Amino acid sequence: MREKSRFFCGECGYETGKWLGRCPGCGAWNSFCEQPVQKKGSSRKKSAESQQAVPLMEGEAEDYEERFSSSFGELDRVLGGGIVPGSVSLLGGAPGIGKSTLLLQLANAVAEEYGTVLYVSGEESHKQVKMRAKRLKANSLRLYFLAETDLLEICRVIEELSPVLVIIDSIQTTFHPELPMHPGSVGQLRECTAEIVRLAKLHGTACFLVGHVTKEGVLAGPKVLEHMVDVVLSFDGDRHQNLRLLRGTKNRFGATDEMAVFSMEESGLRQVDNPSAFFLAERAKGVPGSVVVAAVEGTRPVLVEIQALVCSTAFGAPRRVATGVDYNRMVLAAAVLEKRLGFALANQDIYVNAVGGLKVVEPAVDLGISLALASSYRNRPVDQDTVALGEVGLTGEVRGISSMEQRLKEVVRLGFKRVLVPVSSMELQDRFQSIEIKGVRTVQDALDHAI
Ligand code: TYD
Ligand code: MG
Repeated sequence: MREKSRFFCGECGYETGKWLGRCPGCGAWNSFCEQPVQKKGSSRKKSAESQQAVPLMEGEAEDYEERFSSSFGELDRVLGGGIVPGSVSLLGGAPGIGKSTLLLQLANAVAEEYGTVLYVSGEESHKQVKMRAKRLKANSLRLYFLAETDLLEICRVIEELSPVLVIIDSIQTTFHPELPMHPGSVGQLRECTAEIVRLAKLHGTACFLVGHVTKEGVLAGPKVLEHMVDVVLSFDGDRHQNLRLLRGTKNRFGATDEMAVFSMEESGLRQVDNPSAFFLAERAKGVPGSVVVAAVEGTRPVLVEIQALVCSTAFGAPRRVATGVDYNRMVLAAAVLEKRLGFALANQDIYVNAVGGLKVVEPAVDLGISLALASSYRNRPVDQDTVALGEVGLTGEVRGISSMEQRLKEVVRLGFKRVLVPVSSMELQDRFQSIEIKGVRTVQDALDHAI
């Protein structure tokens, strides 16, 4: 007789006795995985010793001071100050974006500095990875390689080597031989991750897992995967350009929403220490439709050029295309220009682009978008030494935004001469003497000053 199984939804954990196509709990499709009922006595390995409850405040507060550096200052910052021993991080990203490259460079640097590192690949052979390592000059003698997909074998090698860091490339190819499901299925992913987390905590080994993403760009597999690990990182960028952005979307040891910028070069990934300069490098000055804004990514301000092109519609309904900026904010900016300032945009195509592949979706770039649109429409450039900051409301008023000081510091650092801000931020002029801070009440005000 067939062994009795239980079925779990990988998204919300809903449990039933039979497989269902759609979860009644959360509505997800095809999210159920089968799990054989465990026989008594065959329960999983217990952790080393049973634990006692202790008063929370007892003992030394350590604040993860034993963190170690990844050698990439930028990656450390995204991780909240370095790699925490025993932590498990999941790195997701599109194929070919550079996940294996980043982790091999990381593995090598940690091996040179701190001790044995194990790189497990279920996707590439020893030869392939060795060739990449040569190119990256990753030649530490303490960097070990294992081509394996069987989880139990991987665990055995980890226990044998007791490395400080393990890379598993990828979690989707890893499988637990005692489970009936295919590698990459919801149940496999869940079990393998759980086992790796257990091992990492037990031995204090830091672990990085590579996670595949789906067409839509979300991590493949169940949401529970993201709940199980300590840190979730996403690596993206345009594959045709060499810019790569690493973001933290979950971090149990630090803030999320931090971003690191890398560039993919002949000999691997290089961190970009001055992203603002990088994003503004190819800016054409004195042309209509271009405005510089200061966005904040996590704790760091970055200056970005917003470009707009407004041109008459050839036929039919006018087009509205937003790349790297929020579509709705762009449409809103256009509507405000139309209604409050009398621009005739109804028969114009509108294209707005944040240069460099960055996504700036905060309201703080509204004023920049409005100015770029107006500048392109009137075919007159915005003053090239001016930065625009502010949210635009429906009546055309310019509203206050967060982190103004941080943004201004970055604007000053990059040598701009003038910045348009909401009137509420004008008092900052005393603190920033080297730059002219112009308070604007409305979009019209801003246009009068900048164009
Ligand atoms: P890879 O790390 O294999 O991507 P992933 O693991 O995310 O699928 O990176 C693949 C791309 O990176 C490949 O198209 C070539 C490029 N690359 C470089 O430009 N320079 C390098 O030094 C390396 C190793 C790769
Ligand atoms: Mg890879």
